[in-house]
Parts: sequence; C-alpha cells; structure tokens
Amino acid sequence: MEDIVLEDALARMRPIADQDIPSIQHLASAEEIARNTFVPHPYPPGAAAEFVQKAQEHWQNEDGFVFAIIEKESGQFAGCMGIHPTPAHNRAEVGYWIGLPFWGRGLATAALRLLIQFGFEELKLNRIAAGHFPQNPASGRVMQKADMRYEGRLRGTRFHRGEYKDELHYAILRQDYETRTAAAGAGKTKETAED
Ligand SMILES: CC(C)(COP(=O)(O)OP(=O)(O)OC[C@H]1O[C@@H](n2cnc3c(N)ncnc32)[C@H](O)[C@@H]1OP(=O)(O)O)[C@@H](O)C(=O)NCCC(=O)NCCS
Repeated sequence: MEDIVLEDALARMRPIADQDIPSIQHLASAEEIARNTFVPHPYPPGAAAEFVQKAQEHWQNEDGFVFAIIEKESGQFAGCMGIHPTPAHNRAEVGYWIGLPFWGRGLATAALRLLIQFGFEELKLNRIAAGHFPQNPASGRVMQKADMRYEGRLRGTRFHRGEYKDELHYAILRQDYETRTAAAGAGKTKETAED
C-alpha cells in the first residue's frame, strides 16, 4: 500500500515522505493554515519531520493514510490530506490543508475526490466524514464539490485557539458514492454512444 499513487488531471497523491519535510515546514508555518486547523502556530522547528514520521508509522500499521498532494502542472508539493479510519464502524474522517500559494486552483477538491475513491475502493469503508469551522466556508465548498452531504452543526465541539467552536459536518456514504459512480459511468457511455 505504501507505493500507492492516486491521480487525476490536476493532482497526484502519494504517501507522505521524507522529501516533503522542507515544503511542509515552510507551507504549514503560515498563520492562514493554523487559523482553521489544529496545525500549531508558530510552527516549531522539527514539527514537519515529526509529522511525517508519525504519518509513516500509520502507513506501516495501515491505521492512517496521509498523502502528499502534488500539483501536476508544476510538480510541486502543494499540501496534504489524510484519512483516518475507525475500523469498528468502518468509517473514517478526512483532514487537509493546501499551502497558501496553491489556493484557488481546485487542488483540495481534486484531492478530496481522489481520497474518497481510495476510501471506498481500497479501504472498503462505509462512510467518510469531514468537518470545518463556520468561519471557513471555502472548506465547506470543497466538501460539497466532492459530493459530501451536509449533516449538521456540532455546537462547541472543538477547543481551538482558546475558545470552543462549532463544526459543520459533512459525509458521504458508500451508497451515495456508488450511485454517483454509476451515474458518471452512464453519462460516459452516453457520450461515447453520441460521438
Ligand atoms: C480550504 C482549503 C483546503 C481550500 O483549498 P483549495 O485548493 O483552494 O480549494 P479548491 O480550489 O478546490 O476549492 C475552493 C472553493 O472554495 C471557494 N471559496 C473560496 N473562498 C470562499 C469563501 N470565503 N466562501 C465561500 N467559498 C469560498 C472557491 O471559490 C472554490 O469554490 P468554486 O470552485 O465553486 O469557486 C485551503 O484554503 C486551505 O488549506 N485552508 C487552510 C487549512 C484549512 O482550512 N483546511 C481545512 C480544514 S477543515
């Protein structure tokens, strides 16, 4: 599993690796990342190396899967996205950030769609969920564009930067994914038939 690659036209994703440490240390240091995540700010020296080492342990144990997101056009590391299963319920939570210079290029959406595919096709999950702070609508938009469905607002569920914050929750179930995939397949067949 550690040599897996996910890709579409915009993004390539592979397991996070030592070579990503300098980019993570640089990009994760921006306050704009910490504002809406649990990435610490200031980002301490050595934090990226520690993050990568933990992620690699999770890959080895197959209990957590953090991918590097590479922008295909430039070949540059743009951010990361992880999926963290809860095996007893066959569900998982997703978390992500994209480095500030790469915002607004569709990379988070591309990566989330690829990760959802990985979750259902490879991990055989039943449910994939994610949540964002109300102050971060761009992340909600990413979840919507990846066909996740809004499920509700958890009040005061996170303690973040000294205050309790609400979280807006989204999820996609295997049945939603299969319906979407079947519809996309039918669309393709129709297009091909009309060519
Ligand atoms: C949120 C984040 C992941 C988005 O990454 P990205 O690669 O820029 O996302 P995309 O380009 O795929 O899509 C962003 C969408 O949000 C929209 N958007 C941007 N700012 C917005 C705002 N203030 N309100 C509503 N939508 C907004 C964009 O227009 C785009 O939607 P569109 O394609 O319909 O126009 C990125 O900004 C980030 O890493 N932020 C800091 C960390 C973070 O918030 N992580 C997620 C924690 S839940």
